Amino acid sequence: MSSVIHHLKVRFSELSTIEPLIIRAPGRINLIGEHTDYNDGFVLPAAVSHSIHFAVAKSGDPSKCSLISLDFDQRYDFDLSEISPLPVGSWQNYILGVASEIMGSGRKLEGFNLVFTGNIPKGSGMSSSAALECGACFGLSELFDLDIPKIEMAKLSQMAEHHYAGVKCGIMDQFASVMGKSDHAILLDCRSLDYSYFPIGLSDYRLLLFNSNVTHSLASSEYNVRREQCEAGVEVLRKTFPGIKNLRDATMNNLLPTKAMMDDLVFARCKYVIEENERVDTFSRALSNHDLRRAGYILNKAHYAMRHEYEITCPEIDFIADNVTQREEVLGARMMGGGFGGCVLTLIRNGTQLSLAEELNKTYEKKFRKSITPIEVEVSDGVSRVDPL
Ligand code: GLA
Repeated sequence: MSSVIHHLKVRFSELSTIEPLIIRAPGRINLIGEHTDYNDGFVLPAAVSHSIHFAVAKSGDPSKCSLISLDFDQRYDFDLSEISPLPVGSWQNYILGVASEIMGSGRKLEGFNLVFTGNIPKGSGMSSSAALECGACFGLSELFDLDIPKIEMAKLSQMAEHHYAGVKCGIMDQFASVMGKSDHAILLDCRSLDYSYFPIGLSDYRLLLFNSNVTHSLASSEYNVRREQCEAGVEVLRKTFPGIKNLRDATMNNLLPTKAMMDDLVFARCKYVIEENERVDTFSRALSNHDLRRAGYILNKAHYAMRHEYEITCPEIDFIADNVTQREEVLGARMMGGGFGGCVLTLIRNGTQLSLAEELNKTYEKKFRKSITPIEVEVSDGVSRVDPL
């Protein structure tokens, strides 16, 4: 038994003598397609081996529940009949939210005990919150034989994030955590939820994350503001092109003639989203054609657009991206995730990761008085049980 599972079980035994189910829910990377999901667009994420493990069992009571976060070293007791959100930023919200959404969907829950621990760096843009939601949702579905279909799990978890964590996120993170497949990215249409698995073949190259260690909190960031700006853009576009329901439907040929009617900031946001959707397409084609140079070039363009048009980067992130893209061993790099901190995803020649990280860290530490953490990611399967069925 892995030491993580052993540790979970030991702490779980403080709550109950019942043998718990053990669940693993992964974080995710996103190759490209940032802030396109809530615009009904396209994304290319993948689940990763960094994950959260859960021990969960019935409490034996109709409604009493206990949660323990090993990483925060905190316990929280609550009653299913009195669930409501705690202050924004509380880890409990993700699990309370999922329980509330499951019950809201007409399914019945009873009391449960749940203990969890994970190794997804919080606020790094690797979706520790989606892993928490999806693991809790999957665990409760297994525990109470609810048979919730996987895509519905992703949707319930997304709603938990909206209603309990206060972030009006898209579906990408939860979809990746639930539907991930080892060695594959998921090319997802966020409108229809049609998806296909896309093999990640990088030959001599690797994906490496540089964690800036600037932690973001999407709830207090400009995330929801970006969403509103996109909606404002659609409203203007619809006056001339009534068929446009969402930025996914618009092209630059639609946007340019409406420029004069639009706030400059809103125009820049819309341009970013329209072109980012196109980048998902050109990037996936470059990967299929094993044209990694072109893929890297598209990553660089995406970063430029996030920095100057969508304005979701920060000085630390731009410093990392600027520096790594000057290196001959790097084909491309861009900030990953919701923004305002987190990680830079880098397409780098295998074997050069450590030396680059060390060198970069020296200048980064001097300038920002904090260090960079390189994170090697392995693409993994989505949420599952890890105990014998
Ligand atoms: C966060 C959200 C996602 C997505 C990304 C940006 O991770 O949870 O839904 O919008 O930001 O691509």
